[in-house]
Amino acid sequence: MKSGKYIIALDQGTTSSRAVLFDALANVVAIEQQEFSQIYPKAGWVEHDANEIWKTQLKVFEDLVAKHVENVSDIAAIGITNQRETTLIWDRNTGEPIHNALVWQDTRTSDYCERLKRKGLETKVRDSTGLVIDAYFSATKIIWLLDNVEGARERAEKGELMFGTMDSWLVYNLTGKKQHVTDMTNASRTMFYNIQDHRWDESLLKVLNIPPSLLPEVKNSAAHFGDFEYQGHMIPITGIAGDQQAALFGQQCFEAGMAKNTYGTGCFMLMNIGKEMQLSDNGLITTVGIALDGKFNYALEGSVFVAGAAVQWLRDGLKIIEKASETEQLAKDVIEAHDVVMVPAFVGLGAPYWDMYARGAVFGLTRDTNYKHLVKATLESLAYQTRDIIIAMQKDAGYELKSLKVDGGAVANNYLMQFQADILQVNVERPAVIESTAQGAAYLAGLGCGLWTLDELSAYRELDAVFEPVMKKEQADKLYRQWQKAVKRTMNWVE
Ligand code: G3P
Repeated sequence: MKSGKYIIALDQGTTSSRAVLFDALANVVAIEQQEFSQIYPKAGWVEHDANEIWKTQLKVFEDLVAKHVENVSDIAAIGITNQRETTLIWDRNTGEPIHNALVWQDTRTSDYCERLKRKGLETKVRDSTGLVIDAYFSATKIIWLLDNVEGARERAEKGELMFGTMDSWLVYNLTGKKQHVTDMTNASRTMFYNIQDHRWDESLLKVLNIPPSLLPEVKNSAAHFGDFEYQGHMIPITGIAGDQQAALFGQQCFEAGMAKNTYGTGCFMLMNIGKEMQLSDNGLITTVGIALDGKFNYALEGSVFVAGAAVQWLRDGLKIIEKASETEQLAKDVIEAHDVVMVPAFVGLGAPYWDMYARGAVFGLTRDTNYKHLVKATLESLAYQTRDIIIAMQKDAGYELKSLKVDGGAVANNYLMQFQADILQVNVERPAVIESTAQGAAYLAGLGCGLWTLDELSAYRELDAVFEPVMKKEQADKLYRQWQKAVKRTMNWVE
């Protein structure tokens, strides 16, 4: 048995920075978390202050260590997992961002995407990167920054600027501005990383007019990314993965056919599809799933943009709840039949619809509708969106999913989990550690520093609950048809 060693996972999410302490048997010992500002300069625009992200991430690390780690030398390694695609450009000399980070949910570059589509680039992008052309990915966000921040393009061409997603930004700061790196899972979300040849795609960079000097070095997910000097100790950073790929790894979906669904700000289902790149015919994207020395797997992904963010909207926008945890009981309070359906297309719709112009809506209101119906419909929208993705995934993969592995904060909600099992008509498996994202980053860091082997990890996974469908199939199908009708009506809403 191993003892006396810790791994710390830094989980840089869309709404909060977290640090999670794992012991040598991969158990969660403690978590520190801080929310940071969401900046909405205009409708459809979403930004983060990268310095605030760095400060909150460092603070949660320091608090975690101060409260729970006696000797800093017991920290074997740091793993990083992060909101993907969120795009930052900073000055190579000063380390100062030239603008706030443009968040993955930001749709300001929709018209750039239309232009790329009109140039006939869809097939080229898909064949190289596995992605569809969408404002979600980093490429058009970089172009926007270069075009709209004064002097940026000129400085980029002179090699004075650096681009990175949040993993790069954190490593850059943790290593005292020495390392400009990322991992393959994050690189695969830029829309100019060739996922077959494992390199930045020079010809795409040329068409997009993005100077290659901006880009970080790409490594596999359990490499040595640099060292963080803390209280006189050098702590190696030996794991990085985008949060959804980290969750795939944390849920131990190591073999083809295994899938997980993470309910975070958005909802992201990934299925390991093995060593061959396969493109989707049903609105999903192909991405790097696992990138280790000697183990490389692709994944099919269904990206739903708004899931937990819809519950946050109930709390912060509508102010009808104070805490997300209240939603379970409120939903259970509604016992009578009703037709309220909520489509949270706040930032357009991701997979399988890919409509940047859709917007949110509530349908089926009657005189007796109250806030509880809205809460219930909001939770149910997470489950319906998951069914949208599973249908597409089953068509692509050619077989039926027997059960669904779930994780992320919202899976603590028993109403949602039961409804999810009902609407899918399959078992939903909730693991004992629902922090699969942080767990995946910790696994990678532990592998990277030699604390664990891949085989040992399988002993570390336990289930907490299995939700079995109780609703009749006809009823589930009827409800789902109503959802599909509602989705159609939200599409192509803004001009
Ligand atoms: O692609 C965006 C995704 O990485 C964000 O994840 O957990 O912050 O919703 P999350």
